[in-house]
Amino acid sequence: MKRALATAIVILSLATATVAFTQSVGTRLGDARGPQQPVLYSHKAHVGKLGMNCLYCHYGADKSPVANVPAVSLCMGCHKISRADKPEVMKLAGYYERGEPVPWVKVNWLPEHVKFNHKRHFAAGVQCTECHGPVQEMDVYYQYNSLKMGWCIECHRRKLDDPKFPASMDCLSCHH
Ligand code: HEC
Ligand code: HEC
Ligand code: HEC
Ligand code: HEC
Ligand code: HEC
Repeated sequence: MKRALATAIVILSLATATVAFTQSVGTRLGDARGPQQPVLYSHKAHVGKLGMNCLYCHYGADKSPVANVPAVSLCMGCHKISRADKPEVMKLAGYYERGEPVPWVKVNWLPEHVKFNHKRHFAAGVQCTECHGPVQEMDVYYQYNSLKMGWCIECHRRKLDDPKFPASMDCLSCHH
Protein backbone atom coordinates (compact mmCIF):
# COMPACT_ATOMS: atom_id res chain seq x y z
CA MET A 1 0.00 0.00 0.00
CA LYS A 2 2.74 2.41 1.09
CA ARG A 3 4.79 1.40 -1.90
CA ALA A 4 1.89 1.97 -4.31
CA LEU A 5 1.41 5.42 -2.82
CA ALA A 6 5.11 6.25 -3.17
CA THR A 7 5.04 5.12 -6.80
CA ALA A 8 1.95 7.21 -7.44
CA ILE A 9 3.66 10.27 -5.98
CA VAL A 10 6.77 9.74 -8.11
CA ILE A 11 4.67 9.37 -11.25
CA LEU A 12 2.60 12.42 -10.38
CA SER A 13 5.63 14.63 -9.75
CA LEU A 14 7.26 13.39 -12.95
CA ALA A 15 4.11 14.30 -14.84
CA THR A 16 4.06 17.77 -13.28
CA ALA A 17 7.73 18.28 -14.06
CA THR A 18 7.15 17.24 -17.68
CA VAL A 19 4.28 19.69 -18.04
CA ALA A 20 6.33 22.49 -16.46
CA PHE A 21 9.26 21.66 -18.73
CA THR A 22 7.14 21.55 -21.88
CA GLN A 23 5.47 24.83 -20.98
CA SER A 24 8.75 26.61 -20.30
CA VAL A 25 10.23 25.37 -23.57
CA GLY A 26 7.04 26.35 -25.39
CA THR A 27 7.22 29.88 -24.04
CA ARG A 28 10.89 30.26 -24.82
CA LEU A 29 10.66 29.08 -28.39
CA GLY A 30 7.48 31.08 -28.92
CA ASP A 31 5.75 28.16 -30.58
CA ALA A 32 2.03 27.84 -31.06
CA ARG A 33 1.12 26.00 -27.87
CA GLY A 34 -1.23 28.27 -26.00
CA PRO A 35 -3.55 26.99 -23.29
CA GLN A 36 -6.72 25.11 -24.17
CA GLN A 37 -9.44 27.78 -24.18
CA PRO A 38 -13.15 27.10 -23.50
CA VAL A 39 -14.07 28.28 -27.02
CA LEU A 40 -11.76 27.96 -30.05
CA TYR A 41 -11.50 31.69 -30.70
CA SER A 42 -8.86 32.58 -33.31
CA HIS A 43 -7.02 35.91 -33.59
CA LYS A 44 -5.77 34.76 -36.99
CA ALA A 45 -9.36 34.53 -38.28
CA HIS A 46 -10.63 37.79 -36.75
CA VAL A 47 -7.54 40.01 -37.07
CA GLY A 48 -5.49 38.37 -39.83
CA LYS A 49 -8.38 37.42 -42.11
CA LEU A 50 -11.26 39.78 -41.23
CA GLY A 51 -8.95 42.72 -40.43
CA MET A 52 -10.57 43.64 -37.12
CA ASN A 53 -8.84 46.25 -34.97
CA CYS A 54 -7.44 45.14 -31.60
CA LEU A 55 -9.22 48.01 -29.86
CA TYR A 56 -12.64 46.87 -31.09
CA CYS A 57 -12.39 44.04 -28.55
CA HIS A 58 -9.64 45.17 -26.16
CA TYR A 59 -11.30 48.56 -25.74
CA GLY A 60 -9.36 49.52 -22.59
CA ALA A 61 -5.87 49.38 -24.10
CA ASP A 62 -5.79 53.00 -25.31
CA LYS A 63 -7.54 54.59 -22.34
CA SER A 64 -6.90 52.61 -19.17
CA PRO A 65 -4.21 50.53 -17.45
CA VAL A 66 -6.04 47.31 -18.36
CA ALA A 67 -6.70 46.20 -21.96
CA ASN A 68 -9.84 44.08 -21.19
CA VAL A 69 -11.03 40.83 -22.68
CA PRO A 70 -14.41 41.42 -24.36
CA ALA A 71 -17.74 40.24 -22.97
CA VAL A 72 -19.59 37.53 -24.87
CA SER A 73 -22.30 40.06 -25.83
CA LEU A 74 -19.76 41.80 -28.06
CA CYS A 75 -19.08 38.54 -29.91
CA MET A 76 -22.81 37.88 -30.26
CA GLY A 77 -23.21 41.16 -32.15
CA CYS A 78 -22.00 39.12 -35.13
CA HIS A 79 -22.47 35.52 -34.06
CA LYS A 80 -26.22 35.60 -33.45
CA ILE A 81 -26.25 35.32 -37.23
CA SER A 82 -22.73 34.64 -38.46
CA ARG A 83 -21.76 30.93 -38.30
CA ALA A 84 -24.57 30.32 -35.79
CA ASP A 85 -24.70 26.63 -36.74
CA LYS A 86 -21.01 25.90 -36.03
CA PRO A 87 -20.27 23.91 -32.84
CA GLU A 88 -17.82 26.45 -31.39
CA VAL A 89 -20.23 29.32 -32.02
CA MET A 90 -23.05 27.29 -30.45
CA LYS A 91 -20.86 26.89 -27.34
CA LEU A 92 -20.42 30.67 -27.32
CA ALA A 93 -24.17 31.21 -27.65
CA GLY A 94 -24.69 28.83 -24.72
CA TYR A 95 -22.66 31.08 -22.39
CA TYR A 96 -24.57 34.09 -23.70
CA GLU A 97 -28.00 32.54 -23.12
CA ARG A 98 -27.07 31.36 -19.62
CA GLY A 99 -25.76 34.85 -18.82
CA GLU A 100 -22.33 33.40 -17.96
CA PRO A 101 -18.99 34.95 -18.86
CA VAL A 102 -16.74 32.76 -21.01
CA PRO A 103 -14.08 31.42 -18.60
CA TRP A 104 -11.09 32.41 -20.79
CA VAL A 105 -7.75 31.19 -19.46
CA LYS A 106 -5.56 34.19 -18.66
CA VAL A 107 -2.22 34.03 -20.42
CA ASN A 108 -0.18 37.16 -19.66
CA TRP A 109 0.46 37.71 -16.03
CA LEU A 110 2.59 39.99 -13.83
CA PRO A 111 3.12 39.55 -10.08
CA GLU A 112 1.19 41.81 -7.67
CA HIS A 113 4.23 43.95 -6.88
CA VAL A 114 4.55 45.19 -10.47
CA LYS A 115 2.68 48.14 -11.97
CA PHE A 116 1.80 48.12 -15.62
CA ASN A 117 -0.16 50.55 -17.74
CA HIS A 118 -1.45 49.93 -21.26
CA LYS A 119 -2.57 53.52 -21.88
CA ARG A 120 0.94 54.94 -21.27
CA HIS A 121 2.53 52.53 -23.74
CA PHE A 122 -0.20 53.11 -26.30
CA ALA A 123 0.26 56.89 -26.06
CA ALA A 124 4.03 56.46 -26.52
CA GLY A 125 3.40 54.54 -29.76
CA VAL A 126 4.60 51.12 -28.57
CA GLN A 127 2.78 48.60 -30.78
CA CYS A 128 0.73 45.76 -29.28
CA THR A 129 2.77 43.29 -31.32
CA GLU A 130 6.11 44.51 -29.88
CA CYS A 131 5.02 43.03 -26.56
CA HIS A 132 2.44 40.39 -27.54
CA GLY A 133 4.02 39.02 -30.73
CA PRO A 134 2.39 38.34 -34.13
CA VAL A 135 -1.12 37.99 -32.67
CA GLN A 136 -2.70 38.26 -36.13
CA GLU A 137 -1.07 34.93 -37.06
CA MET A 138 -2.12 33.01 -33.95
CA ASP A 139 -5.02 30.55 -33.98
CA VAL A 140 -4.46 29.99 -30.27
CA TYR A 141 -2.98 32.93 -28.40
CA TYR A 142 0.24 32.15 -26.51
CA GLN A 143 2.54 34.34 -24.44
CA TYR A 144 5.28 35.55 -26.77
CA ASN A 145 7.75 37.50 -24.61
CA SER A 146 8.94 36.54 -21.13
CA LEU A 147 7.47 39.67 -19.42
CA LYS A 148 10.44 39.42 -17.05
CA MET A 149 12.02 42.50 -15.53
CA GLY A 150 15.07 42.23 -17.79
CA TRP A 151 12.81 42.34 -20.83
CA CYS A 152 10.95 45.47 -19.64
CA ILE A 153 14.23 47.18 -18.70
CA GLU A 154 15.82 46.42 -22.06
CA CYS A 155 13.24 48.58 -23.84
CA HIS A 156 13.04 51.22 -21.10
CA ARG A 157 16.82 51.69 -21.36
CA ARG A 158 16.60 52.17 -25.12
CA LYS A 159 13.86 54.77 -24.65
CA LEU A 160 15.46 56.62 -21.72
CA ASP A 161 16.28 59.68 -23.78
CA ASP A 162 13.23 59.65 -26.02
CA PRO A 163 12.45 63.36 -26.47
CA LYS A 164 8.68 62.96 -26.20
CA PHE A 165 8.07 59.76 -24.23
CA PRO A 166 11.09 59.04 -22.04
CA ALA A 167 10.79 55.68 -20.24
CA SER A 168 11.95 55.39 -16.65
CA MET A 169 14.47 53.06 -14.96
CA ASP A 170 13.30 54.10 -11.51
CA CYS A 171 12.34 51.07 -9.40
CA LEU A 172 9.25 52.84 -8.13
CA SER A 173 7.87 53.53 -11.59
CA CYS A 174 7.29 49.75 -11.98
CA HIS A 175 7.08 48.61 -8.35
CA HIS A 176 4.63 49.49 -5.57
C1 HEC B 1 4.84 47.38 -23.34
C2 HEC B 1 4.26 46.07 -23.54
C3 HEC B 1 2.80 45.95 -23.90
C4 HEC B 1 2.12 46.60 -24.92
C5 HEC B 1 2.65 47.64 -25.89
C6 HEC B 1 0.77 46.07 -24.90
N1 HEC B 1 0.64 45.15 -23.91
FE1 HEC B 1 -1.02 44.07 -23.45
N2 HEC B 1 -0.12 43.31 -21.78
C7 HEC B 1 1.20 43.55 -21.43
C8 HEC B 1 1.46 42.96 -20.12
C9 HEC B 1 2.77 43.03 -19.36
C10 HEC B 1 0.24 42.35 -19.72
C11 HEC B 1 -0.04 41.63 -18.39
C12 HEC B 1 -0.58 42.66 -17.41
C13 HEC B 1 -0.81 42.19 -16.01
O1 HEC B 1 -0.84 40.98 -15.73
O2 HEC B 1 -0.99 43.07 -15.14
C14 HEC B 1 -0.72 42.57 -20.80
C15 HEC B 1 -2.03 42.11 -20.81
C16 HEC B 1 -2.89 42.23 -21.89
C17 HEC B 1 -4.21 41.63 -21.98
C18 HEC B 1 -4.89 40.80 -20.90
C19 HEC B 1 -5.92 41.66 -20.17
C20 HEC B 1 -5.27 42.75 -19.38
O3 HEC B 1 -5.52 43.93 -19.70
O4 HEC B 1 -4.50 42.44 -18.46
C21 HEC B 1 -4.73 41.97 -23.20
C22 HEC B 1 -6.09 41.61 -23.75
C23 HEC B 1 -3.75 42.81 -23.87
N3 HEC B 1 -2.64 42.94 -23.05
C24 HEC B 1 -3.94 43.38 -25.11
C25 HEC B 1 -3.12 44.38 -25.65
C26 HEC B 1 -3.44 45.18 -26.83
C27 HEC B 1 -4.67 45.04 -27.68
C28 HEC B 1 -2.39 46.05 -27.01
C29 HEC B 1 -2.24 47.15 -28.05
C30 HEC B 1 -3.31 48.16 -28.11
C31 HEC B 1 -1.44 45.79 -25.95
N4 HEC B 1 -1.91 44.79 -25.14
C32 HEC B 1 -0.22 46.46 -25.80
C33 HEC B 1 2.14 44.22 -22.18
C34 HEC B 1 1.86 45.04 -23.27
C1 HEC C 1 -17.44 41.71 -36.70
C2 HEC C 1 -18.08 40.42 -36.57
C3 HEC C 1 -17.49 39.42 -35.59
C4 HEC C 1 -17.25 39.58 -34.24
C5 HEC C 1 -17.49 40.82 -33.39
C6 HEC C 1 -16.76 38.31 -33.75
N1 HEC C 1 -16.69 37.41 -34.78
FE1 HEC C 1 -16.15 35.45 -34.63
N2 HEC C 1 -16.24 35.26 -36.65
C7 HEC C 1 -16.73 36.21 -37.52
C8 HEC C 1 -16.64 35.70 -38.89
C9 HEC C 1 -17.05 36.44 -40.15
C10 HEC C 1 -16.07 34.40 -38.79
C11 HEC C 1 -15.66 33.46 -39.93
C12 HEC C 1 -14.17 33.72 -40.19
C13 HEC C 1 -13.59 32.88 -41.29
O1 HEC C 1 -13.97 33.04 -42.44
O2 HEC C 1 -12.69 32.08 -40.98
C14 HEC C 1 -15.89 34.15 -37.36
C15 HEC C 1 -15.46 32.94 -36.85
C16 HEC C 1 -15.53 32.58 -35.50
C17 HEC C 1 -15.38 31.25 -34.97
C18 HEC C 1 -15.18 29.97 -35.77
C19 HEC C 1 -16.52 29.51 -36.32
C20 HEC C 1 -16.36 28.25 -37.18
O3 HEC C 1 -16.45 28.38 -38.40
O4 HEC C 1 -16.14 27.19 -36.60
C21 HEC C 1 -15.48 31.36 -33.59
C22 HEC C 1 -15.44 30.23 -32.57
C23 HEC C 1 -15.64 32.77 -33.28
N3 HEC C 1 -15.69 33.47 -34.46
C24 HEC C 1 -15.71 33.28 -32.00
C25 HEC C 1 -15.81 34.64 -31.71
C26 HEC C 1 -15.68 35.21 -30.38
C27 HEC C 1 -15.39 34.42 -29.12
C28 HEC C 1 -15.88 36.54 -30.51
C29 HEC C 1 -15.82 37.59 -29.43
C30 HEC C 1 -14.59 37.68 -28.67
C31 HEC C 1 -16.12 36.82 -31.92
N4 HEC C 1 -16.05 35.64 -32.60
C32 HEC C 1 -16.41 38.07 -32.44
C33 HEC C 1 -17.21 37.45 -37.18
C34 HEC C 1 -17.13 38.04 -35.92
C1 HEC D 1 -12.97 39.81 -31.96
C2 HEC D 1 -12.37 40.24 -30.73
C3 HEC D 1 -10.87 40.34 -30.60
C4 HEC D 1 -10.01 41.06 -31.41
C5 HEC D 1 -10.32 41.88 -32.65
C6 HEC D 1 -8.69 40.90 -30.81
N1 HEC D 1 -8.77 40.09 -29.71
FE1 HEC D 1 -7.28 39.62 -28.43
N2 HEC D 1 -8.51 38.38 -27.39
C7 HEC D 1 -9.85 38.18 -27.65
C8 HEC D 1 -10.36 37.13 -26.80
C9 HEC D 1 -11.79 36.60 -26.77
C10 HEC D 1 -9.28 36.72 -25.98
C11 HEC D 1 -9.29 35.63 -24.89
C12 HEC D 1 -9.10 34.26 -25.53
C13 HEC D 1 -7.70 34.03 -26.02
O1 HEC D 1 -6.74 34.19 -25.25
O2 HEC D 1 -7.56 33.68 -27.21
C14 HEC D 1 -8.14 37.52 -26.38
C15 HEC D 1 -6.88 37.43 -25.82
C16 HEC D 1 -5.82 38.30 -26.11
C17 HEC D 1 -4.58 38.36 -25.38
C18 HEC D 1 -4.21 37.50 -24.19
C19 HEC D 1 -4.94 37.96 -22.94
C20 HEC D 1 -4.39 37.28 -21.71
O3 HEC D 1 -5.09 36.41 -21.17
O4 HEC D 1 -3.27 37.60 -21.31
C21 HEC D 1 -3.81 39.31 -25.98
C22 HEC D 1 -2.42 39.74 -25.56
C23 HEC D 1 -4.57 39.83 -27.09
N3 HEC D 1 -5.78 39.21 -27.13
C24 HEC D 1 -4.09 40.79 -27.96
C25 HEC D 1 -4.76 41.20 -29.11
C26 HEC D 1 -4.17 42.04 -30.12
C27 HEC D 1 -2.77 42.61 -30.07
C28 HEC D 1 -5.13 42.21 -31.09
C29 HEC D 1 -4.97 42.95 -32.42
C30 HEC D 1 -3.82 42.54 -33.22
C31 HEC D 1 -6.32 41.50 -30.66
N4 HEC D 1 -6.04 40.87 -29.47
C32 HEC D 1 -7.54 41.47 -31.31
C33 HEC D 1 -10.60 38.87 -28.58
C34 HEC D 1 -10.08 39.72 -29.55
C1 HEC E 1 8.97 48.06 -26.32
C2 HEC E 1 9.25 49.03 -25.27
C3 HEC E 1 8.71 48.83 -23.88
C4 HEC E 1 8.56 47.66 -23.18
C5 HEC E 1 8.87 46.24 -23.63
C6 HEC E 1 8.05 48.03 -21.88
N1 HEC E 1 7.88 49.37 -21.80
FE1 HEC E 1 7.12 50.41 -20.19
N2 HEC E 1 7.29 52.14 -21.22
C7 HEC E 1 7.83 52.28 -22.48
C8 HEC E 1 7.85 53.70 -22.83
C9 HEC E 1 8.38 54.28 -24.15
C10 HEC E 1 7.31 54.40 -21.72
C11 HEC E 1 7.22 55.91 -21.55
C12 HEC E 1 5.83 56.42 -21.72
C13 HEC E 1 5.75 57.88 -21.33
O1 HEC E 1 6.77 58.58 -21.23
O2 HEC E 1 4.63 58.32 -21.14
C14 HEC E 1 6.94 53.38 -20.73
C15 HEC E 1 6.33 53.67 -19.51
C16 HEC E 1 6.03 52.74 -18.53
C17 HEC E 1 5.38 53.03 -17.27
C18 HEC E 1 4.91 54.40 -16.82
C19 HEC E 1 6.05 54.98 -16.06
C20 HEC E 1 5.70 56.17 -15.22
O3 HEC E 1 6.55 57.06 -15.14
O4 HEC E 1 4.60 56.17 -14.63
C21 HEC E 1 5.33 51.86 -16.57
C22 HEC E 1 4.76 51.65 -15.17
C23 HEC E 1 5.91 50.83 -17.40
N3 HEC E 1 6.33 51.41 -18.58
C24 HEC E 1 6.05 49.51 -17.03
C25 HEC E 1 6.53 48.51 -17.87
C26 HEC E 1 6.62 47.12 -17.47
C27 HEC E 1 6.27 46.57 -16.11
C28 HEC E 1 7.09 46.44 -18.56
C29 HEC E 1 7.34 44.99 -18.70
C30 HEC E 1 6.29 44.06 -18.29
C31 HEC E 1 7.29 47.43 -19.62
N4 HEC E 1 6.95 48.66 -19.16
C32 HEC E 1 7.76 47.10 -20.88
C33 HEC E 1 8.28 51.27 -23.30
C34 HEC E 1 8.28 49.91 -23.00
C1 HEC F 1 10.37 48.69 -16.39
C2 HEC F 1 9.81 48.08 -15.22
C3 HEC F 1 10.70 47.70 -14.06
C4 HEC F 1 11.65 48.48 -13.43
C5 HEC F 1 12.11 49.89 -13.81
C6 HEC F 1 12.13 47.70 -12.31
N1 HEC F 1 11.49 46.48 -12.28
FE1 HEC F 1 11.76 44.99 -10.88
N2 HEC F 1 10.44 43.79 -11.87
C7 HEC F 1 9.73 44.15 -12.99
C8 HEC F 1 8.91 43.03 -13.39
C9 HEC F 1 8.00 42.99 -14.60
C10 HEC F 1 9.12 42.01 -12.45
C11 HEC F 1 8.41 40.65 -12.39
C12 HEC F 1 8.98 39.66 -13.36
C13 HEC F 1 10.30 39.14 -12.87
O1 HEC F 1 10.35 38.59 -11.77
O2 HEC F 1 11.28 39.30 -13.63
C14 HEC F 1 10.09 42.51 -11.50
C15 HEC F 1 10.59 41.79 -10.42
C16 HEC F 1 11.42 42.31 -9.45
C17 HEC F 1 11.83 41.61 -8.25
C18 HEC F 1 11.40 40.21 -7.87
C19 HEC F 1 12.31 39.21 -8.52
C20 HEC F 1 11.93 37.81 -8.16
O3 HEC F 1 12.75 36.93 -8.46
O4 HEC F 1 10.85 37.57 -7.64
C21 HEC F 1 12.64 42.45 -7.54
C22 HEC F 1 13.32 42.18 -6.21
C23 HEC F 1 12.76 43.68 -8.32
N3 HEC F 1 12.00 43.56 -9.46
C24 HEC F 1 13.49 44.78 -7.93
C25 HEC F 1 13.68 45.94 -8.68
C26 HEC F 1 14.58 47.04 -8.32
C27 HEC F 1 15.43 47.10 -7.06
C28 HEC F 1 14.47 47.97 -9.32
C29 HEC F 1 15.23 49.29 -9.48
C30 HEC F 1 16.68 49.15 -9.56
C31 HEC F 1 13.50 47.46 -10.30
N4 HEC F 1 13.05 46.23 -9.87
C32 HEC F 1 13.10 48.15 -11.43
C33 HEC F 1 9.79 45.37 -13.66
C34 HEC F 1 10.62 46.43 -13.32
